[in-house]
Order: sequence, then structure tokens, then C-alpha cells
Amino acid sequence: MLAYRHAFHAGNHGDVLKHLVLGEVLRHMGEKDKPYSVLDTHAGAGGYSLEGRYAGKKGEFEGGVAALWDDPAGLPDALARYLELVRDFNGGAGAKLRQYPGSPAISQALMRHSDPLHVYEMHPTDERILRAFLGGRPHTQVHLSDGFASLVRELPPPSRRGVVLIDPSYELKPDYGKVVAAVREVLTRFAQAVVIVWYPLVQLVEAVQLPKRLRTAAAAAPKGWLDAQITVQAADERGFGMMGSGVFVINPPHPLHGTLQECLPVLAERLSQIERPKWLLDAGLK
Ligand SMILES: C[S@@+](CC[C@H](N)C(=O)[O-])C[C@H]1O[C@@H](n2cnc3c(N)ncnc32)[C@H](O)[C@@H]1O
Repeated sequence: MLAYRHAFHAGNHGDVLKHLVLGEVLRHMGEKDKPYSVLDTHAGAGGYSLEGRYAGKKGEFEGGVAALWDDPAGLPDALARYLELVRDFNGGAGAKLRQYPGSPAISQALMRHSDPLHVYEMHPTDERILRAFLGGRPHTQVHLSDGFASLVRELPPPSRRGVVLIDPSYELKPDYGKVVAAVREVLTRFAQAVVIVWYPLVQLVEAVQLPKRLRTAAAAAPKGWLDAQITVQAADERGFGMMGSGVFVINPPHPLHGTLQECLPVLAERLSQIERPKWLLDAGLK
């Protein structure tokens, strides 16, 4: 049985970075009058209460979305768009921050009804919540299955336009290798896929190596890749704990590099719990 529940972490600094990127990618995909698919391999429950016992227990969202929500003035446009999504999920203008949209909620908000959405979740409770959450959406398949293994069955999508979000919990070390293998599989079957991989910055060999391995895997991608990181926390005295996170995007939409150049310094500063936060934007664009 899986122990990880995303409800404990919803809205933290990792979610902010990941969902900023996901939102910008989906907006770009929607600009063309052609359908596109989203495959979300590790979907979670869809949306989360920030007042419940889970999110409240660790309060991680306070160092994440709440730090932007409480002081939205002067944010770059893309971060303002991200906050708007969260605001809409909470009921719109004047709402209090009570809930947080997970990746399926962000897809649901930004995709056209006719764009196919496939979500995979292995935790039976989260899958049940997710199924209920997405219940009325047309062209949607909720799979209670291993996203790494099932993903390839939907590739390439009929429209030959698609986004793959790979966002495991990395609770188990083999997840790091599975991410690289999944990226290779995706690009073999569908080289034009826009692939978004979220990863934690932790002091673990597998984690440190992951971005390098992703660069090698992405070498065949026609539009190249970009890698965005923020470091906003300190590890504990034993070296444990997440210091920040990164998002690796393969075949990124052209404007994403400029958008991240603008947003990363702001995110690093606003979400930081350390004296010297860091950010990094590296790219191998073609
Ligand atoms: C980091 S959370 C996902 C958060 C979600 N993508 C979001 O942004 O809102 C990872 C999720 O993957 C689920 N999970 C773990 N291993 C899985 C697998 N092999 N296939 C599908 N889901 C898995 C966990 O139960 C957990 O809900």
C-alpha cells in the first residue's frame, strides 16, 4: 500500500513551480485550433482542502501558494495567471484560500471539453476522489493503474499533439530510474510530446543525477529541453528534507523560457525560508 498522500503537501513550493509550468504549457497548447491530449501519470486526488487535517498538519502551503496569495502585487503576468487559477478554484474574486487545485483540476480548467484527458492514480482512495472530481468531464479516462506502465498505451495520441506530466512522489528510489525510462518510451513513440517532469531537490545520488539523465534522454527531442529549479529551504542536520524542486520540460513551447526567466527569481525570493535562495534556468533548445 502506498503511504504517500499529496494532501499533506498540496500548494507547497513544489506545487507552485510545477503548476505554474503546467498552466503555461496548457495555455500555449490551447492557442492552436487543433485538439491535444494530456496524460497525467501520477494525478493525485484532483483537488485538496487546505483546511483539512492533512494540509493543516504540515502547513506546507504557507511557504508556497499562500506566500503569493497574501501579497499578489507586482507579480509577473504568468504568476498572476497561476494565482487566478487558484482563485477561481476557490470561488473567484474575494474568495479565501481554502482549497488547492491539483494537476487534474488545472487541466480541467484550461483544456477544451473536446481535448482528451487521461489521468492515472494508484492510491485507491485518491483515485476514487479523482474519479468523482472529474466525473462530468467528457473525453476523460481515469485509470486506477501504474502511470509509468500504462502511459505508452495512449501514445501517440490521435491528434499528434500532447502533453505528458510525470509527477511521482519519489517515495521509492526506483521512481528516479522509472522516470528516465518513461521519458525514453514517450519520445520513442511520440517525439513531439511536450513532457513535464517534476523532481525534488534532495541530497540523494539518484536525485542529483536525474536532471543529467533527463538531458541525455531528451537529446532526440526536436525542440530540445529546459530545466528550471528553485532552492528555498535548508536540509535538516542529517541532510534529509526537500530543499526545493525542479521542472524539466522536453519540447517546451517557445515562450516558456522567457516566462521562467521572469518568474524564477520572484518565486525563489517570495517562497524562500532561507537567507540565500537560489534559482537556475538551463536549456538545450533547438
Ligand atoms: C506528487 S503526487 C501527484 C500530484 C499531482 N500530480 C498534482 O500535481 O496535483 C504523486 C501521486 O502519485 C501516486 N502514485 C504513486 N505511484 C504511482 C504510479 N506508479 N502510478 C500512478 N500513480 C502513482 C501517489 O498515490 C500520489 O497520489
